Amino acid sequence: MKLVGLVGWRGMVGSVLMQRMQEEGDFDHIEPVFFSTSNTGGTAPAMAKNEKTLQDANNIDALKKCEIIITCQGGDYTNEIYPKLRATGWNGHWIDAASSLRMNENAVIVLDPVNLPVIKQALVNGQKDWIGGNCTVSCMLMGVGALYKAGLVEWMSTQTYQAASGGGAQHMRELLTQYGTLNAEVRSLLDDPKSAILEIDRKIIAKQRSLTADETANFGVPLGGSLIPWIDKDLGDGMSKEEWKGMAETNKILGQGEGFGTAAVPVDGFCVRIGAMRCHSQALTFKLKKEVPLADIEAMIAADNEWVKVVPNTREASIRDLTPVAVTGTMTIPVGRVRKLAMGPEYVGAFTVGDQLLWGAAEPLRRMLRILIE
Ligand code: HSE
Repeated sequence: MKLVGLVGWRGMVGSVLMQRMQEEGDFDHIEPVFFSTSNTGGTAPAMAKNEKTLQDANNIDALKKCEIIITCQGGDYTNEIYPKLRATGWNGHWIDAASSLRMNENAVIVLDPVNLPVIKQALVNGQKDWIGGNCTVSCMLMGVGALYKAGLVEWMSTQTYQAASGGGAQHMRELLTQYGTLNAEVRSLLDDPKSAILEIDRKIIAKQRSLTADETANFGVPLGGSLIPWIDKDLGDGMSKEEWKGMAETNKILGQGEGFGTAAVPVDGFCVRIGAMRCHSQALTFKLKKEVPLADIEAMIAADNEWVKVVPNTREASIRDLTPVAVTGTMTIPVGRVRKLAMGPEYVGAFTVGDQLLWGAAEPLRRMLRILIE
């Protein structure tokens, strides 16, 4: 069995990864070594076999013994440790949730239900760096990858509705605390059915505008009862880094565009943070290269992988099955609201939702591990 080092397994993404690995029996096929940045010598979790104590995640010699390393420790750790490890001549497989190495020439963005041929070719090439994609991009491609695989997409525009978890665990806490603060502000008025709604509204906006720096420490501004139309860094050209990733990563996952000697499919739109917990949702607009009947589009999407589920474009099914509340904690990627748009017969709209901690983060990593050990 291969010696597999696990780093950052206690954080939010790492915990979801551990849970999925246990559910799928991954630990039956590996010899795990658990690393820690803060508790070296502590007791490893129950899945440990021979090495029952936590190893030092900053100890290059200890890391070097692993044939495969999976890290959810974050970009700073990757930036610090990965170059040192490779500089020793370590030739193992590095599987990483962080974005640091994603666009490196030698790195593959892993999402095997969508890009298994790209992964297989990279294995033949001897590539060793397997990086999880941006959550929004991975969830989108799990839903509508079929249209890309069929070469049908001339361009795509995406408007996202991204959950607090994309920022991290503290962001989720901050959102809920804000909701609680707002509720407390008007609770007595809510309890009185005769109270004036505009009085409630006035108190809420006053409270939102007066939240303290502590109450908005993570998002920087109120999110509860509002939205934030910017995610990640300002690239200085009017685009957010999250928006930039849409086109760069979609094409790289599919093995096309810059670096592959082919034309990239344009992908662009606006990425928006909303007050959902851990599911990213997206409204997609496609310009297809040719007119395709809706029934064929739905059939292609439905047949693409075992997790995608086409939701009938009715009010009842959409509000029941196409929401963060319906999808959270599941592997299902619903795609609904599929319809021809008023701009012309090649214009198709769709709406999709995905759990950004599962398909958006942990799942592609553990699936890559299985590819490497099977
Ligand atoms: N950048 C994403 C977000 C998180 O902020 O929602 C994971 O890719």
